[in-house]
Amino acid sequence: MKSVAFHTLGCKVNQVETDKIRNEFLKKGYLVKNFDEYADVYVINTCTVTHISDRKSRAMIRRAIRNNPQAIIVATGCIAQTDSVQLAQIEGLTLVVGNRDKGNIVNIIEDWEAQDGEQQLKIIVQPITANDKPKAVHYMQHMQRSRAFVKVQDGCQSFCSYCIVPYARGPVRSKLPEDVLNEVQQLLGLGYREIVLTGIHTGMYGLDLEKWNLHKLLLMLLDKAEGDYRIRLSSLEPLEISAEIIKLAAGEEKLCRHFHIPLQSGSNKILTAMNRRYKREYYRDMVQKIARNIPGIAIAADIMVGFPGEEAEDFQDSYELLEALPICDLHVFKYSKRPGTPAALLQPEVSEQEKKSRSDKLLRLAKIKQDSFLKDSYGNELKVVVERQTGDRRYVGTSDNYINVEFEASSNMVGSFISVVIRGSENGIAQGSILNGLTNP
Ligand code: 5AD
Ligand code: SF4
Repeated sequence: MKSVAFHTLGCKVNQVETDKIRNEFLKKGYLVKNFDEYADVYVINTCTVTHISDRKSRAMIRRAIRNNPQAIIVATGCIAQTDSVQLAQIEGLTLVVGNRDKGNIVNIIEDWEAQDGEQQLKIIVQPITANDKPKAVHYMQHMQRSRAFVKVQDGCQSFCSYCIVPYARGPVRSKLPEDVLNEVQQLLGLGYREIVLTGIHTGMYGLDLEKWNLHKLLLMLLDKAEGDYRIRLSSLEPLEISAEIIKLAAGEEKLCRHFHIPLQSGSNKILTAMNRRYKREYYRDMVQKIARNIPGIAIAADIMVGFPGEEAEDFQDSYELLEALPICDLHVFKYSKRPGTPAALLQPEVSEQEKKSRSDKLLRLAKIKQDSFLKDSYGNELKVVVERQTGDRRYVGTSDNYINVEFEASSNMVGSFISVVIRGSENGIAQGSILNGLTNP
């Protein structure tokens, strides 16, 4: 029996896509191995959002080649789409397959194996067009996580000046609503309690479909998908969180009280240079409005430091804005120059040392924000999905507002809903006790 091993870098969309590729290999009878084991085929699903993700992706390709130099080594994902020439220089690589064709890797391998004569490196990268819609997914097996991700759209056409993603992912394309519903129903049937709707630019869902948007998709799913479950949304841009979505999250128990809203900079000068189409005041008002309307909501932000031209006072604007807002967590990114993006030509660059110092300050602020959000939850009753067992009679679960809670229980509850009351915290993990037993064991 032939074997295959996978490694995924980058975002949730890439992970979902690897799941889909894995599924295709399983259908063909392949045995799935761990990445560090000997396998006949290795698939590395690369990321290029920063130069660090680039470097890590290349290191994983080289590691696969070391694990079995005779193996078929396939590099796919975002570096494959944007810079196949760079990948082609890695000796021992067999196939480079861009994002557009990654769903077809099993067939591409079969063709490659069948070809006569010398088998040379083959590069399959084609431009992504508006017609390359995300396909319906049919699951073969349970992925053994308590949370399931559904890719509802692909692509981004916002072209923030620092970002390589639109080049790696093409224009906005949405999965058909009926295919999203079908996928959600399959996953609920497999026992998942939490469905995360994800995409490259999730808030743009429906832009390419007639009369659809994210709010309408949510309403349809909540209406048609039956059972005890909840829906979480992945990152939404500030300009895409409509009043309707806020209202829905405030009133609908099945929609998690959790928004991830990238800010990127708290300086209007830098936001303009980034080609982000809102001002710091807009972001501030939006976050405050959400927090006012949805008690206990978890709001996380992405923030970038060291964009070209970011001066001390611009950074201070970012810091002070985030410090003042009811945010529970920060994802801090050091600006990374991506060749081919408009910002790559901007001057003056910020030194690596200064980027690190600014990033460290924000990471300390993130810790303060996390702690204070946790403290605010003491005494609250939360419904968690049990994620895993952590010790003898100890379990950890995640609440709708994204708090990890540890608690004691006597039976195996992984994958089910349970209500807990937060009593305190230890090492940053909330400690709770069970309130009223299992719902839907
Ligand atoms: N440098 C650093 N961070 C980046 N991101 C996107 N492009 C870059 C870049 N060139 C970050 C943004 C985005 C997150 C997914 O990745 O903060 O929100
Ligand atoms: Fe990385 Fe962006 Fe591609 Fe996701 S879409 S894998 S974050 S470059």
